[in-house]
Amino acid sequence: MISFKEISPSEFFYQHRELAGFSNPARALYSAIRELVENSLDACDGYGILPDVLIRVTETKPSPSDVKEFEIYVKDNGIGIPSEKLPKALGKVFYGSKFTLKQSRGTFGMGGTMSILYAQITTNKPLRVWSNTGNGETHYFELMIDIENNKPIVLKHKKFSQQNWRGTAIKINLLGDYVRSSQKIQEYFRRLALFTPYANMVFEDPNGEVFAFKRSVDKVPPPPHEVQPHPKGVDLELLRRIVQRSSSKTVLSLLINSFQRVGRKTALEILKIANVDPNKRPSELKMEEMMRIINAMKTYEKFLPPDPSCLSPLGKELIEEGIKKELNPQFVYALSRKPSSYEGYPFIVEAAVASNKTPGIKVLRYANRIPLLYDEKSDVVFKLLNEEIDLKRYKINEDEPIIILTHICSTKVPYKTVGKEFVADIPEVEKEMKLALQKVLREYSLFISKKVKIETQKKKKNVYEFYLPMIAKFAALLGETKIPSVSGLIDSVKVVDIE
Ligand SMILES: Nc1ncnc2c1ncn2[C@@H]1O[C@H](COP(=O)(O)OP(=O)(O)O)[C@@H](O)[C@H]1O
Ligand SMILES: [Mg+2]
Repeated sequence: MISFKEISPSEFFYQHRELAGFSNPARALYSAIRELVENSLDACDGYGILPDVLIRVTETKPSPSDVKEFEIYVKDNGIGIPSEKLPKALGKVFYGSKFTLKQSRGTFGMGGTMSILYAQITTNKPLRVWSNTGNGETHYFELMIDIENNKPIVLKHKKFSQQNWRGTAIKINLLGDYVRSSQKIQEYFRRLALFTPYANMVFEDPNGEVFAFKRSVDKVPPPPHEVQPHPKGVDLELLRRIVQRSSSKTVLSLLINSFQRVGRKTALEILKIANVDPNKRPSELKMEEMMRIINAMKTYEKFLPPDPSCLSPLGKELIEEGIKKELNPQFVYALSRKPSSYEGYPFIVEAAVASNKTPGIKVLRYANRIPLLYDEKSDVVFKLLNEEIDLKRYKINEDEPIIILTHICSTKVPYKTVGKEFVADIPEVEKEMKLALQKVLREYSLFISKKVKIETQKKKKNVYEFYLPMIAKFAALLGETKIPSVSGLIDSVKVVDIE
């Protein structure tokens, strides 16, 4: 007989680690660094703090093999993790019980935890973490994850007073391969720095090389606000959990209190469509009734679109600043589109173009302010640039030294996999992305036209500068007069500036 056993989320990811980007030692090192850095940045700019993040990767045991044990140490100046929450936040996959939404780099409480889990299964060493929420007390923990039960095991906990630091520092040991991941990791930091111009980041690699990215602006984009879910973005499981935890006395008040864009009138209309008594106690709702409520919410047409205050786009000014700081281009143009939505989730698309110093079209993709490096060909941006948009119309051929940047921010980026590497071609997203790309490409083609015009003018001026004095000299010789001045004539050939 086959026996079925429930498996914990940790167990599930232990068995399917490739899903989260931990398929081999090279990819795992990249993913682990990335998840820890992204948690640090979330803990800073998500709360209006200018980030200072240190990332140090060291080889712990010299070994002739490329695959070896590394220690990753990441320290930030973010809000810290309250000590009572810390073990669960880092030692339990999918920790979280809130139903509110707000944009962050993390997805749903697993990225950093997955790194910790991977570290544990490859080296059997505990996670070491120091955290201080700014109350003068640093808590130090040594933790492991009980994989079968998806629970943290606290091996050590002590606290000591420390006044001059608020933030979190994490140390993990894992099996990795820096030889095969160094290029990707360095590229990741360069791209991350470009899109986080307000952060100080220092990456010390295992070979002792230091990559320092200094902030060039002291301005963090306005942090996102927490919002309740929009009724269109709710599924049966979420509704079931909301019902379970709610203290509302009636289904009517549950709908009004738990969702955005639902007032009394709307709630009554929904419950009428669903044929559910508004005065029923939420705890008495049957599964079929919940299903009918979900269906009613999905078909109801009159909701206002989802509240975009939970989003935090980077904005035109900071995108242009980041590109200037990292690439110093002759031309840059960025834009931020108005909020849009899909399936009850708001999103904003941003795009930019810049001239580059090396020939070829370079595409930089970002989602919720993190660079996406893998699987470029599966991404909606690749599809648009290769199938939908005719680059020749913008006078761009394949050697054009151009950088095209895209960013989508949302409370639910439509990633195609858990690995957070490429964005699906959802029609609403595709449409916004296309409009954004078309506008920035138009600006770029205007820049090229101007550049061509300037070059022609410069050439013309050079010709005049060369021949006019000679002609003047010959004419003077012929006419036996004084050589006339030609500088006025030369100056009359104007060269407009690209700016
Ligand atoms: N450096 C950090 N500073 C503050 N909080 C952190 C930090 N790293 C992790 N956390 C907390 O731990 C939680 C779990 O992290 P993680 O497993 O990466 O999930 P996610 O980032 O998807 O929420 C985060 O949601 C956050 O609350
Ligand atoms: Mg995370």
